[in-house]
Amino acid sequence: MKLLNEIHSLFDDTLQHVDWPLMVTTVAGLLVSFPIATVIYRIWFHPLSKIPGPRLAAATWLVEFYYNCICKGQYYKKIEEWHKVYGPVIRITPHEVHVNDPDTYSHLYKTNAKVTKDPLYYQRFAGDINVLFFAKDTATHRSRRDPLNNYFSKKSVAEFEAVIVKHIDKLCRYLKQHAENSQGPIDLHYRIRCIVLDIFSDYAFGKSFSFQDSSSLGKDFFDMIRVHMASLWLFRMMTPGMVYWITHLPPFIALKLDPSASTYVKLKEDSKAAIKKIRDDPKAGDLRKENRTVFYDMLHPHDDDGNPIAPKSLDDLSDEAYGLTVASSDTTGNGVHATMLGILSNPEVYAKLKEEFKKAFPTSESKITWAKLEKIPFMVACIKEGLRISCGVIGRMPRIVEEPYFQVLGYHIPRGYSVTTSNYMMLRNETIYEDPHDYKPSRWLDENGNLHTHLDKYFVPFGKDSRHCIGMYLAQSELYLSVAHLVHRFDMKIADESHHHSVKDLDYIDCFVSMAKDVDKASLKVIVTSSD
Ligand code: HEM
Repeated sequence: MKLLNEIHSLFDDTLQHVDWPLMVTTVAGLLVSFPIATVIYRIWFHPLSKIPGPRLAAATWLVEFYYNCICKGQYYKKIEEWHKVYGPVIRITPHEVHVNDPDTYSHLYKTNAKVTKDPLYYQRFAGDINVLFFAKDTATHRSRRDPLNNYFSKKSVAEFEAVIVKHIDKLCRYLKQHAENSQGPIDLHYRIRCIVLDIFSDYAFGKSFSFQDSSSLGKDFFDMIRVHMASLWLFRMMTPGMVYWITHLPPFIALKLDPSASTYVKLKEDSKAAIKKIRDDPKAGDLRKENRTVFYDMLHPHDDDGNPIAPKSLDDLSDEAYGLTVASSDTTGNGVHATMLGILSNPEVYAKLKEEFKKAFPTSESKITWAKLEKIPFMVACIKEGLRISCGVIGRMPRIVEEPYFQVLGYHIPRGYSVTTSNYMMLRNETIYEDPHDYKPSRWLDENGNLHTHLDKYFVPFGKDSRHCIGMYLAQSELYLSVAHLVHRFDMKIADESHHHSVKDLDYIDCFVSMAKDVDKASLKVIVTSSD
């Protein structure tokens, strides 16, 4: 008690002797001068200060925040404009340099480049979580990717083809019935996305989400992904720890704070339950032979010598499930959407493709297979155009320099800073593609209708380096098979009521993956006039 009184009187004494005006002036001075000093340092004395670009973007992250958070995912368009003013190498945040030069892409994103994913960017997706997409260093990345590589190989995906076609057939049956009853326009926007996720969930868990059967066609789910991905730009202003806690709140708290989080909570809980079921089912190993599942392999990992090792925790596996689900959803969905829109809005392309299919699959018994489709040059050209226009990952893919410096077009970016470009800059680059915003399969073909290869080094929808897309073959098989079934088996045209009539109507925002700017105006309504 005596001690407490002494502390109290000491405190009183000190407060009485404080020079308050001086104290307030000092604190205010510090508050004002610290940001000013930071801005002066970033613009004139920072290791990136010699890089051209708007000074405001070099001075503060608020510029990115403004274009991405307030203007909703528009920074990529502003960056494109700035390149026209300041040249191919520009500084777009205090710590990041953006390059718009097609040849630098393969230099930056090559398998043995001494760069790693920028944690200041990638860890804002969901915090520092233990999943493939966010692995920081090369060794951790290899340990997460190697066990999955085989699983997502072209051979493994081809073995799964019957299940992929089963889900596409379900949509075809629905469209056939619809055409027979001539029920007017039908919107393919959500139906396409449903197929993609029904296939992915079957592949991953051995049990489909069955969104095609739900009355809402999974709308809540796709809205949830949209909200989460759009939060990336807000999360970017937080620490990875804060982002982790926001995205990993216990279900009952998340639901209290935001009832619309229920789809997210349900997905996490459902994934966990599905993974648990595979773990606890003694027959899951047998099941895998007929009906492969990613998570069986992830629950039974092996080291390089083939010895069993401990699997990840259920929580980490359900994070992985969420990551893969998001990665596979709008990317592939937009790819199918853009390809169908491109084909249907170009009557000559549509007629030519139908003719090619009639030759390749002449009778109703002719089986449409991915292998056969890849041998039709015009079909390959149509899919490439769809992937180019939809640009699955529209956002930048920043890499931290690990060598003493990274040299780009006469500039040195020192170790520890971030260099980036984007697939959008590559796939819509007017120095590579004439009329880059148009859907023109002919650009991929020579005068004899054969595929040429001179643009292939710039065709990077799935990335190029060791972090390139692991789901590339799964996505491609879904694209080829779904587009071919829809075009070959039906006669359809874009309905007047559709919001999308040409690929120029696709207005994407950057949520790392491309998302429709206005989802209510993202319909692809078609009239199905007849079927085979
Ligand atoms: C048309 C569809 C797709 C496109 C255009 C696409 C594009 C990409 C790109 C550009 C990257 C590199 C991102 C970066 O470096 O930051 C990537 C990575 C990734 N993608 Fe895809 N993707 C598609 C479909 C899928 C599917 C279906 C899956 C899931 C099965 C998937 C899973 C992943 C994963 C896990 C990574 C991270 C790989 C790593 O870090 O090693 N993607 N994707």
